[in-house]
Amino acid sequence: MAVAIVVAAGRGERLGHDRPKALVPLLGRPLLAWSLEALIGVTSLRRIVVVLPDGEPLPDDPAAWGLGPTSWTAPDGSARVVGVGGGRERSHSVRAGLAATGEGPPDEPVLVHDGARPLVTAALIAACLAGVRDGADAAIAAAAVTDTVKQARPADPSGALPRVDRTLDRSLLWAVQTPQVFRRDVLARALAEPDEVLAAATDDASLVEAAGGDVRLVAAPRSNLKVTLPEDLRLAELLLGDRDR
Ligand code: C5P
Repeated sequence: MAVAIVVAAGRGERLGHDRPKALVPLLGRPLLAWSLEALIGVTSLRRIVVVLPDGEPLPDDPAAWGLGPTSWTAPDGSARVVGVGGGRERSHSVRAGLAATGEGPPDEPVLVHDGARPLVTAALIAACLAGVRDGADAAIAAAAVTDTVKQARPADPSGALPRVDRTLDRSLLWAVQTPQVFRRDVLARALAEPDEVLAAATDDASLVEAAGGDVRLVAAPRSNLKVTLPEDLRLAELLLGDRDR
């Protein structure tokens, strides 16, 4: 068995909406409900912790989020999906989520997903879980980069155009997404780093890499996009609409 943490406690200011990003409507239900539905369908997940913005609890009735009536419960009637409050930075929210998963064996896979990625599929979730069961410390979704990527000097305060230092070898570059699945002991160790280290991490796998861990890439489609800007929300709407047809 495995557990999942969905981080959805960010404000999402770049989306320019008056609701927290996870709760912005997307085709008639909150953005977060789309990835939650995909995770709920994965029977090997014994518990799913949703990390929510303060003051925004999980609704008592999953139907309020367009989900089936038994979505929050395990077959034995116990709570399977639970909500907790988030932290200041993303990693703090993951730490709060991990604590709420309770106890588990050190090699138990713990899946971390951004609630802002509504297009995640059951197949991608299964592939990431399998990567850790095969012995890696972490298996993370990533899309091969299709753009040419250049490294430039930091922006000049004078407003001059940034000067390019070099062009990176595209054949070695991957744009990292979630799900990211970790062995429980590896994730717990990574999240025990000091607060300033956690605050600087833009994903959880980077903390494991920094400690010399074996992090593997699971090839993922670019369509597993993260909703950050208004145009991302429109694109997600179009892609999800296509899927239903
Ligand atoms: O800001 P960004 O889109 O990169 O955040 C990625 C994910 O982390 C989002 O799903 C967001 O809700 C979550 N997050 C969080 N707690 C924070 C900041 C971000 O759960 N303090």
